[in-house]
Amino acid sequence: MIEALYTPLQIELRNRTRELAETVVRPVAAKHDVEQTFPWEVQKAIKEAGLFGVWIPKEFGGMGGGVLDLCIVVEELSRACGGVGVAYAVNALGSFPIILGGTQAQKERWLPKIAAGDAMISFGLSEKEAGTDAGSMVTRAEKVGDEYVLNGEKKWNTGGAVATYNTIFAVTAPGRGARGISAFLVEKGMPGYRVGKHEDKMGIRCVPVVEIHLEKCRVPASHLLGGAEGHGFKHAMQTLDRARPGVAAQAVGLAQGALDLALEYTHQRKQFGQTIDSFQGVQWMLADMATQIEAARQLVHHAARAIDSGYRHISKLSAMCKLTATDTAMRVTTDCVQLFGGYGYCKDFPIEKYMRDAKITQIYEGTNQVQRLVIARSLLRETSGAPE
Ligand code: CAA
Repeated sequence: MIEALYTPLQIELRNRTRELAETVVRPVAAKHDVEQTFPWEVQKAIKEAGLFGVWIPKEFGGMGGGVLDLCIVVEELSRACGGVGVAYAVNALGSFPIILGGTQAQKERWLPKIAAGDAMISFGLSEKEAGTDAGSMVTRAEKVGDEYVLNGEKKWNTGGAVATYNTIFAVTAPGRGARGISAFLVEKGMPGYRVGKHEDKMGIRCVPVVEIHLEKCRVPASHLLGGAEGHGFKHAMQTLDRARPGVAAQAVGLAQGALDLALEYTHQRKQFGQTIDSFQGVQWMLADMATQIEAARQLVHHAARAIDSGYRHISKLSAMCKLTATDTAMRVTTDCVQLFGGYGYCKDFPIEKYMRDAKITQIYEGTNQVQRLVIARSLLRETSGAPE
């Protein structure tokens, strides 16, 4: 990070998070990966460091930072553990719908608890048959008196088992497509809300990814985000536009963390009587990886700055940075395993975890095929002269 290009707050955030990542996250990363347990000690440290409020406006108890600030924190956490990176970032994904579409009263009610780290939040968009095609969801919300009754199942709910709040998207007007979808803030413990299957995952194993069952789940009408039906899908898409740079930052952190380990290893490992970093073949791999990581990081920061500046047409840049950074992370972490040779393939060394953690970044918050679709649609709109 060239410090002159960032604000004093951003540099301080980077330093604060890096110290936390090295002293609290890295020492427990392997344990939680093996045991597939949530790192409550890390959650407590992040809360005490005041980092849950980074992206939340000051008037609701947050730091009033933007997407760039969020990305800086996520990158540093992910450099030590990709699972911790997403366990943190998913709170931004879950709370953006409130920030973007909630009423003043809803923001005052829920955001301060998230900012303080007293309540975590997840994002309930996907279903078994509605992943990439999010608009085809079938979870239903019907108004009965002054409540909504929700029925359905949500899938791939990251953090759902430990979150107090869950932003649930459901159909309020069948037959109206995307315009018939609404968003609700559902609280753990509401009647009919149940956490189901915990996925046994390849990577990001410290963060629970679960199914959420809504069985005649009764939610007060005051929990309908924005107070009006039909805006849920738009808010979900606007949320993903703002959250995808966070996944991209997670990928940059994973790639950087893997490269750090590979640099250390190749400097110590000897073959043919010399350290392997003295071989040109290895040096070129290291150089390529460092270059690709920096290029990805700069695209992430460019997209984040565009979002923070209020630039309206952010879908394309957001998708581009997610696509670039996550493909980079997969390539770099795979090459780092290669540099470790047989040791890289074994769990005695931490490098294979980076490769496993990186894979999901190409899949969640929109597969990289969806990112290409979003980019191509923007390009075609731009070249046809139609308004974006
Ligand atoms: N901003 C604002 N509005 C948008 C928008 C955006 N970026 N994108 C679409 N919309 C609006 C459109 O204008 C349209 O509105 P009108 O009906 O008023 O005209 C409406 O939304 C429907 O748009 P489309 O017809 O373009 O929608 P589509 O059905 O063709 O879907 C898609 C487009 C890009 C494929 C979208 O469904 C998508 O992004 N899919 C991927 C979903 C995704 O990322 N899921 C991951 C969830 S989170 C997760 O992975 C788990 C976790 O916990 C981390």
